[in-house]
Amino acid sequence: MYAVLGDPVAQSLSPAIHNAVFRATGRDASYIARRVTAGECGTVLRSLALNGGGGNVTVPYKEHVLPFLDRRAHAVEATGACNTFWARDGEVWGDNTDVEGFLGVWEGMVAELGEGLSVLVLGAGGAARAVLFALPGAPEVARVRLWNRSGDRARNLVGRFGDSRLSRIEDWRGESPDVVVNATSVGLNGGAAPIDLRGLAALPRGVIDLVYGKEPTPLCRQAAELDIPARDGREMLVLQAEASHARWFGRAPPRGVMAGALE
Ligand SMILES: NC(=O)c1ccc[n+]([C@@H]2O[C@H](COP(=O)([O-])OP(=O)(O)OC[C@H]3O[C@@H](n4cnc5c(N)ncnc54)[C@H](OP(=O)(O)O)[C@@H]3O)[C@@H](O)[C@H]2O)c1
Repeated sequence: MYAVLGDPVAQSLSPAIHNAVFRATGRDASYIARRVTAGECGTVLRSLALNGGGGNVTVPYKEHVLPFLDRRAHAVEATGACNTFWARDGEVWGDNTDVEGFLGVWEGMVAELGEGLSVLVLGAGGAARAVLFALPGAPEVARVRLWNRSGDRARNLVGRFGDSRLSRIEDWRGESPDVVVNATSVGLNGGAAPIDLRGLAALPRGVIDLVYGKEPTPLCRQAAELDIPARDGREMLVLQAEASHARWFGRAPPRGVMAGALE
């Protein structure tokens, strides 16, 4: 038994994409969305893992579950967030495959943008931690500017990662990034985009929105109107889920099954 643990989880597409792979590979396993309270999250996580299963952790528990892990992968230590768990030899392991998922999207986006890129990251929650851990390792990144509604949270993250290329900004207006990454939850329910791309000093050459939905997100819609290449969070969802599957079973799932289920 595998599960995504969070609150809320009813909207999660993880059961659909993981069960599609279980079916396609004939695996005797099942994946559910399980809404949990903060008090029960760690117990449910350990119970699933130690009974031969595993799963994922989503908002708002990615940081909360760290004390319930016996072993933390490097990405968990570095980001302070866990999105994937399983057990091996009686020990519960945690990893953060959002990092791998984001890097996969990033590499696809920047292949044609060249070197020395400046990136504007919006948000300072769990998703932003994965982005900020991944980006400085990307050779084409020259500068990362972080903006968040609550400045203190952004300041803490900049301090945590301590990379000279990373800095916090008070206001995104007047910036001229090559790429904008939205790691806020703004746009999840439609409405407005987190920023107005036209308010930047120069239009970016690419947009990555971690948010996804059935319709194009507000930020991706605005990027399309301005002829800027953009990707929403669906590709990252699939890539982080494929990486989770590989952690659980020691091999990657067949390509295209999760993406097909998502469509
Ligand atoms: N595609 C994927 O695979 C994937 C993976 C992970 C996450 N995500 C998505 O990424 C988003 C963020 O997730 P998370 O885990 O980082 O959530 P989180 O920890 O709750 O952080 C939410 C972030 O959004 C900001 N925010 C919320 N409402 C805002 C508003 N009205 N105006 C401006 N900023 C606002 C928060 O700013 P404050 O600090 O000021 O509150 C914070 O920076 C979610 O939509 C999630 O679904 C996608």
